[in-house]
Amino acid sequence: EGKKVIRLDVGNPDFPAPAAVVEAWQEALKGQKTHYTESRGIPELVGALRAYLKSKSHFDAKPDELVVTVGGRFAVYAAIATAVKEGESAMIIEPAWPAYKEQIEFVGGKAISVQTSLEDGWGPSPEKIEERIRPNTKAIVLNYPSNPTGKIVKPSLFREILEVANDHNLTVISDEVYDSYSFAPCPSILEGGAERFILTSSFSKTWSMTGFRVGYAVCDGRQTAEKIAMLASLMYTSVPEFIQYGAIKALESEEEATRNREQMRERIAIACRELDRIHGLKYYRPDGAMYVFPELREESFDSSGFADSLLNENAVSVIPGTGFGNYPRCFRISLGSPKEVIVEGIRRIGEKIA
Ligand SMILES: Cc1ncc(COP(=O)(O)O)c(C=O)c1O
Repeated sequence: EGKKVIRLDVGNPDFPAPAAVVEAWQEALKGQKTHYTESRGIPELVGALRAYLKSKSHFDAKPDELVVTVGGRFAVYAAIATAVKEGESAMIIEPAWPAYKEQIEFVGGKAISVQTSLEDGWGPSPEKIEERIRPNTKAIVLNYPSNPTGKIVKPSLFREILEVANDHNLTVISDEVYDSYSFAPCPSILEGGAERFILTSSFSKTWSMTGFRVGYAVCDGRQTAEKIAMLASLMYTSVPEFIQYGAIKALESEEEATRNREQMRERIAIACRELDRIHGLKYYRPDGAMYVFPELREESFDSSGFADSLLNENAVSVIPGTGFGNYPRCFRISLGSPKEVIVEGIRRIGEKIA
């Protein structure tokens, strides 16, 4: 109480949003871009996104296959709601961002989890995935680079998973919100291989625009995109018009995206260097994203109690591994704060564990 807390919990990068985005947004406001828009997004932003995806992933999205959404979070929800109905199931690879399971359950589905482990480098086995598929399984959610582990699967493994999905008519929901923070070759669903897919992505991490609430979904066809646009229309009509004008400028802000990526690369290196000093702590060196997910292999270690006590006594907040699946010996450190803060936070974690 009364102490300033070192926040290593939320996935909120502290980098400023690109200046061009803020300017475009201000201009848009002055120019009265303050109205409802098409639910799937203004044509200028849809067009800019298509050009962006073409140059980045060589993917030719048709205008009616793309929907601008309120954050990547809504894109994921809409993808799940479109692919999974009440009484059906969808697979998730754990540890996983908790919203996948919650959203699947919210639409009345069952989340089937495939566990991965630190010993296996957090890589899922296609055999294990196939074993767990049920007749009512309709989708599989993939997320590389992964929150919370920072894992990026090798493109060959990614393709094997897509083959399993195709064999069982699953829709692959590929959540690629962290793709710009990739420090190893990161496969994208847009490179092909999946018969049914929905890509979800966001402006939040790449350009540090979490508060703008703008993301998008790219679908394998018009019908799915129409459903997602209909859901957007039912829920919130459209992303605010001026926010969409700002987002167009983000797509041109390559310098900022590169700066953010390089800073995140450096933060990962620093966090790993500091974690290496802590005896007994093991972790997978992240290939991407903005987190480290260490594990303390001690029978008595309970990450929930640890996180509580770390917050109350040491003023550092982390997220216990149980938030991401059955991982009571792990906890997640977010690298959204400046280097000095990360170093001090990990120093206190070390003190606590010693
Ligand atoms: C894996 C993953 N997907 C999607 C999101 C959604 O981000 P946003 O709604 O800000 O685009 C997050 C946010 O932390 C995330 O970690």
